[in-house]
Amino acid sequence: MEVIIRPSHDAVAALAADIVAAEVRENPALGLGLATGSTMELVYDELAARHARDALSFAQARTFNLDEYVGLAGDDASSYRYYMEQRLFSRIDVDAANTHLMNGAAEDLDAECVAYDQLIVESGGIDLQLLGIGRVGHIGFNEPLSALRSRTRVKALSPQTIEQNAALFGGDASRVPRHGLTMGVGTILDCRRCVLLATGESKAAIVAKAVEGPVTSMISASALQLHPRCVVIVDEAAATELSQREYYRWIFENEPEWDAFR
Ligand code: GLP
Repeated sequence: MEVIIRPSHDAVAALAADIVAAEVRENPALGLGLATGSTMELVYDELAARHARDALSFAQARTFNLDEYVGLAGDDASSYRYYMEQRLFSRIDVDAANTHLMNGAAEDLDAECVAYDQLIVESGGIDLQLLGIGRVGHIGFNEPLSALRSRTRVKALSPQTIEQNAALFGGDASRVPRHGLTMGVGTILDCRRCVLLATGESKAAIVAKAVEGPVTSMISASALQLHPRCVVIVDEAAATELSQREYYRWIFENEPEWDAFR
């Protein structure tokens, strides 16, 4: 794992977009794992801008989202499918047939989850997975105690996550679905490269636990310590509780992999 500290949310988003752009230029048929949430909004703005400005193309890319709410169809304005259409898919040249999210309104949710994991494998796997982190430390909707080897499945949402995500439901927590469909921690760990983004003071404590604490199913993001190629990109506010900030800065300055990104 590496930790990169950038001065602002804008700079975090720009670096994440630089990584996506480099990967999709090298491999136009990239398997790109996507996340939702406010942290990602600026990343998608950056990608849309680069598509318009620099002809960055996603025409052959395949996308797979991490999660979806149970009970919401893709045309529901609170669904993650809807979020993705608005924030990214309609603004770039990705082929709609290559954009994948679980269907939260599927009749057989368990079959939907099994089929999703199969689809990822059969289409060549995820090359680059973008991740956010919830205040409980979740990646996707892998709430505390999610098995570190879990696969895509239905998960009950924690009270903290319901509270945190109420904004998308007009601020009314009682309207937030009680369950989500989510890639499992094990599914996420199968990706070839992952990038976790966190910004703002409210994420500082959980970022420190995920990066510097023990690997534990109580904080599913801590499982990323096991991933062979994972970078955590945070702004200064989200970095405040990391005890080894100077070490992370040193590594970023000296690691040849990042020469083109500094
Ligand atoms: C939701 C998503 C997560 C995401 C989290 C972060 O809970 N299911 O995948 O990581 O939001 O949200 P934000 O970026 O708004 O803090």
